Amino acid sequence: MKLSVIFLTVLVPSHARLYASQQHRRQVLVALASTTFPLYSQQCDRDEGPRVENDADTFGSGVKYHNDSPAFPVLLSGGKCADPLKAACSIRNDPKLAYMEGPIDCGDNGFFCTVTEQDDWEPRELLDNLNFGYCNRTEAFDGTEFQDDGHCHGSDDDSAYYWVLRDHWFRQYNGRLRCCCNWDSEEVDDDDPLSNGLFTNRCDYRRWVPERQEGDCRNANKAVKNFEDGCDPDVEAQQTGNPVPENDAVCWEILNFGQPKPFFAEGDVCKDDGDFIFKKIPGRDCDWVGKRPSVRCEREYEGKDLMEYCPRTCGLCPGDDEGKQEDDDGALDGCIDDLEFRFRNKEDRDCEWVGRRPNVRCQRIWDGQSLEIFCPESCGVCE
Ligand SMILES: *[C@@H]1O[C@H](CO)[C@@H](O)[C@H](O)[C@H]1NC(C)=O
Repeated sequence: MKLSVIFLTVLVPSHARLYASQQHRRQVLVALASTTFPLYSQQCDRDEGPRVENDADTFGSGVKYHNDSPAFPVLLSGGKCADPLKAACSIRNDPKLAYMEGPIDCGDNGFFCTVTEQDDWEPRELLDNLNFGYCNRTEAFDGTEFQDDGHCHGSDDDSAYYWVLRDHWFRQYNGRLRCCCNWDSEEVDDDDPLSNGLFTNRCDYRRWVPERQEGDCRNANKAVKNFEDGCDPDVEAQQTGNPVPENDAVCWEILNFGQPKPFFAEGDVCKDDGDFIFKKIPGRDCDWVGKRPSVRCEREYEGKDLMEYCPRTCGLCPGDDEGKQEDDDGALDGCIDDLEFRFRNKEDRDCEWVGRRPNVRCQRIWDGQSLEIFCPESCGVCE
């Protein structure tokens, strides 16, 4: 039994066609009330992230995977929830929980979500996984090859919502998440931007996984049902250069979507990279990172944070004690580069820039001090 169907029956008795037995109604109410939502697992073996059945062990009893994250729902004026989430907001009593998990009410016409790059929010894996172009550029009207605008994924089943978000969250497809009802509504035909070819040239599909078939979903992202019809050529002239049409009344948004740091679950391989040497400077391996984890784990090298090279040292592995995160004070005290430092306030002139020509730059003066005071590590005056 699909959750969304039962759910609608509970809340909107006039949907007579969505009849479900008293027993099922009771099941859903009990599930929602006792926070054992979702009703059953539709998690596939290939889905990213910790297994849902272990959530209590992984995150703590009653703690949701997104609880401590900076993600937040964009509410309507007056703090109201978008229509498809109204019921979820009132029952679950927490807009973030409702937006992250549902259950959404799209009248069982399904939904689609896009993740696009968001300012001030690290896109992490998003840019390597773009899969659509908006129907407002010439390239997107040429077929489905153009896919530079974001990542799109949806389902014709409302209850797949929780699983699409959970999987994308742990894949770190991070950004601004915007979802709308109607993967393909048979009832409201001309109210259907995606399936009518007005919105994006393509969108990936996830199917509904019936109860007791969890894990068995090689076809959860069944390619044959991906939307790949491209954009409707009839609207090219009118839509090019303009925002694509959306039915705002049935859309909603979450900002800062996605797991901000690499996540390792129980059972994952989580170990430091023995070959890692920061900037190829002898001695700057994961042990060196571990002497100043609070600063060094956040630094970047070749496009990745150092915590990704040294997850164990940086305390990201399950079962690590918090102590690992503490800085080793003492001899190294004060001997760290100031990450905020910018010579003459020029954006690219940070300590890394100083370190590229230490002989010339470390003795220069800025703000009354020589640059080696701001950048002792890069100037090699620490050890
Ligand atoms: C295309 O549509 C998107 C979504 O509405 C919008 O953010 C973007 O600015 C549009 N692009 C152009 C070139 O108008």
